[in-house]
Amino acid sequence: MKVSAALLTVACGLVAAHGDVPIPRILGGGKLFSDLRARHITGLARERAVEHVHNKRTRNDKRENTSGQCGKGYGSCAVGYCCSAEGWCGKGSDYCTSPDCQINYGPACDGNRKPSGVDTSSVPRPKLGSVSIGGNGIYDCVNPGEIAITFDDGPYLYTNDLLDKFKSYGAKATFFITGNNIGKGMINDPSTPYPAVIKRMHAEGHQIASHTWSHENSSTLTNNQYTNQIIWNEIAFNSILGFFPTYMRPPYSICAKACQNILATLGYHIIYFDLDTEGYLMDDPTLIQTSKNIWDEAINGANVRTDSFLNIEHDIHYQTVYNLTDYMLSSLFKHGYKSVTVGECLGDPASNWYRAGPGKHNS
Ligand SMILES: *[C@@H]1O[C@H](CO)[C@@H](O)[C@H](O)[C@H]1NC(C)=O
Ligand SMILES: *[C@@H]1O[C@H](CO)[C@@H](O)[C@H](O)[C@H]1NC(C)=O
Ligand SMILES: *[C@@H]1O[C@H](CO)[C@@H](O)[C@H](O)[C@H]1NC(C)=O
Repeated sequence: MKVSAALLTVACGLVAAHGDVPIPRILGGGKLFSDLRARHITGLARERAVEHVHNKRTRNDKRENTSGQCGKGYGSCAVGYCCSAEGWCGKGSDYCTSPDCQINYGPACDGNRKPSGVDTSSVPRPKLGSVSIGGNGIYDCVNPGEIAITFDDGPYLYTNDLLDKFKSYGAKATFFITGNNIGKGMINDPSTPYPAVIKRMHAEGHQIASHTWSHENSSTLTNNQYTNQIIWNEIAFNSILGFFPTYMRPPYSICAKACQNILATLGYHIIYFDLDTEGYLMDDPTLIQTSKNIWDEAINGANVRTDSFLNIEHDIHYQTVYNLTDYMLSSLFKHGYKSVTVGECLGDPASNWYRAGPGKHNS
């Protein structure tokens, strides 16, 4: 199922986006109606049945909040239930997928589920290197002649192939990884391909960075909820790698003062971008040329001896991975640029990109 343009805008805001993501169904009447149809109820009997089921549902909702409306003005679903973007309580990916699931009203939203692993919150966080921490964030590389291509929201279905592509060019990327978004499951779940993909990124010289646990809008979260968004991703990274990143990118490019202050305390570099090809909006063979044109306009108007780029892409989109990436990499090398990670283009030694975790396993 394709995400509608409206939902895409709501869910993705400025930078992040989702491709072929199941939409939480518009629920309520639909389910009830199909139940009735299945029982071949007609006429008056049907009206009575509707009333009966409706009353039963209302009573159930008051008691348990398992299938009623939720959200602002309605309240929270029961423990173990999620609150969909459209404001209905339920279970399963239609209801629980983050960031659409309303974490303030759905206790079981993916964004409320903590990964297993050792807690990282008490790891000492000395300032590493000279790249700024917290604050308004970083938009530009500093070393001329370098381009840092970055990918948000993954890893996902295509990320392993993307790594093959980078390998074939001898190129480096930075991955701003989200812990549990678009219904992909937790990145440190051993039953998913993600732990191996993330280890591979590191082994092949790419930089691993955080894009928060479940891609929530930081402006809607309490300080405690936002801290969880950072710490939970650290727990997941640490359980895979034994360390966690010092670089992050705020979902939707939203990070107001409270968010900046938490990230300063937790020792994070806040990274934005100065070249967005909008590949996430052009995920179709007939549209992706627009992203190539945006890339060309930037590169053709620049001077490799004086300029550099901090680019943003999303590896959850097919055309970005299988079409645009080849175009960008061949252009990058053709114009004489060096393909680097974000840390490298900021002149920050690799030893500063991560903090050692408190050990991988609870003992
Ligand atoms: C984030 O939340 C703020 C505060 O509710 C809201 O004004 C803004 O539109 C939201 N942005 C996105 C991308 O959801
Ligand atoms: C769920 O129950 C709470 C507490 O009883 C109530 O405030 C809220 O309105 C209910 N929400 C729904 C979705 O029925
Ligand atoms: C790749 O992009 C071009 C437009 O730049 C398009 O014509 C072509 O069909 C795309 N290839 C695939 C395999 O989708």
